[in-house]
Amino acid sequence: MNLLDNIDTKRLPEHIAIIMDGNGRWAKKQGLLRALGHERGSESVKDIIRTCNRLGIKNLTLYAFSTENWNRPKIEVDTLMKILVKQLRKELSTLEDKKIRLNTIGNFDQLPTSVRNELNAVKERTKDFTTMTLTLALSYGAREEIVNAVKNISDKVKNNIISIDSIDDLIINEHLYTHNLPDVDLLIRTSGEHRISNFLLWQIAYAELYFTDILWPDFKEQDLYEAIISYQKRERRFGKTSEQIK
Ligand code: IPE
Ligand code: IPE
Ligand code: MG
Repeated sequence: MNLLDNIDTKRLPEHIAIIMDGNGRWAKKQGLLRALGHERGSESVKDIIRTCNRLGIKNLTLYAFSTENWNRPKIEVDTLMKILVKQLRKELSTLEDKKIRLNTIGNFDQLPTSVRNELNAVKERTKDFTTMTLTLALSYGAREEIVNAVKNISDKVKNNIISIDSIDDLIINEHLYTHNLPDVDLLIRTSGEHRISNFLLWQIAYAELYFTDILWPDFKEQDLYEAIISYQKRERRFGKTSEQIK
């Protein structure tokens, strides 16, 4: 049976975010180099983008490289950047074809010029598309994002652009990298780790969390359906009682 039949397409999560973890362990299990795990991981990226697009998911955010990942061996960082540029080039036609807008969050300045150029080119070519927004979190750290927001808000207060009293959830939201995205509804992490690893701390305040032992290179269409089915079985109460929502 196709799990797709069990999904209510009228109650899809508006925003799915994924911590794509386990490439290294996948490679090790097969006796391969970590780089090959990342290559195979990029196949899952392709698969999941297409699946989300087919389903009608409006926002997909993928954690591709964290601020902490800069501490990995240089050779691995270089490999990851190379795979990224290669995939962006390969995927541009699909993004254009499916009307998917590419967006990025993270510290852009830290990325190599080749990566920045490629990202800018694809972002420019897809900027008017509204079918789905694909956000890549690259050189992304939620704490850094929050620090940035605090600095920018403080600057505006100092220059009398906004008052301290006007600072609220909305103002903070507006100063995050994700200002143009809705809150995360469903957060998925693969590879059996049960942690957030500095991803979207503000935006997952009320997200449903889904953890699976599947390693990222093995995570495919049917696995995403399982995550969405699990999401749809849950009651999102947002602090209210069950009776209030029914
Ligand atoms: C996720 O896989 C990819 C990145 C973090 C860039 P890992 O490389 O973290 O794989 P494991 O956790 O070592 O298996
Ligand atoms: C989180 O994975 C970052 C990405 C998936 C890009 P890590 O593998 O870097 O996380 P930790 O270090 O195990 O928490
Ligand atoms: Mg990992």
